[in-house]
Amino acid sequence: MAKCIFFLLLRVIPSIAGFDFCFKIFAPDQIRLASAGDTGVNVGWHIRTSLLDFSDPLTNPIVMFDTSPTKLTSKSVYIKSSSYERNIGFGVSWFYSVELQGLKPSTMYYYQIAGSGCVLSSSILNFTSAPLLGDRSRPVRIATYGDLGVDGLIGTFVNGPCLFEQALNALQKKLSEIDFFLHHGDICYADDTPVLVPLKTYEQAMDYCQAAM
Ligand SMILES: *[C@@H]1O[C@H](CO)[C@@H](O)[C@H](O)[C@H]1NC(C)=O
Repeated sequence: MAKCIFFLLLRVIPSIAGFDFCFKIFAPDQIRLASAGDTGVNVGWHIRTSLLDFSDPLTNPIVMFDTSPTKLTSKSVYIKSSSYERNIGFGVSWFYSVELQGLKPSTMYYYQIAGSGCVLSSSILNFTSAPLLGDRSRPVRIATYGDLGVDGLIGTFVNGPCLFEQALNALQKKLSEIDFFLHHGDICYADDTPVLVPLKTYEQAMDYCQAAM
């Protein structure tokens, strides 16, 4: 009871005072982009909370974007956030996604995840939007791949060691030549079984694979 009141006070007093009291500062990681229709891009990212802290560190996830890196004036839409398995020892993994809509075709855009509360902003990142549908002025190079869940003791025995890492290294070498990657499922096996990803819990295996992507 006494402990509960103590936590309540810690949460209430800072918000009355109008500033955030942070036990820990978080930074967005596992930042990645996906296609969201002809003129949109989805930005997804992750934040892991610290030990015993299960609350959402970013209640209003927003990405600012524009065609100039010095003035990001457009704001993302369609906020989604979710968390997966809570683990006392590792905190909670929160996943966020928003959409940047109304993009001009074949244009370089700059974007930044906006920090708030105890979460830092990301650095200013960039991408080139998709070409106009039917634009034949230059080829679009697409790499398609999937089924990366090949490691673990059984996978290593059947396929050889570190196939997941080898596949990612091979794809990374192609980055400068490829406009769009199409991943059709099976990133890795994160299911609490040491046979599939040795010595890693669900959260650790999931974070390892997601961060490597
Ligand atoms: C876009 O981002 C990449 C990767 O961080 C960086 O190397 C590149 O310089 C950036 N390009 C521009 C034009 O800002």
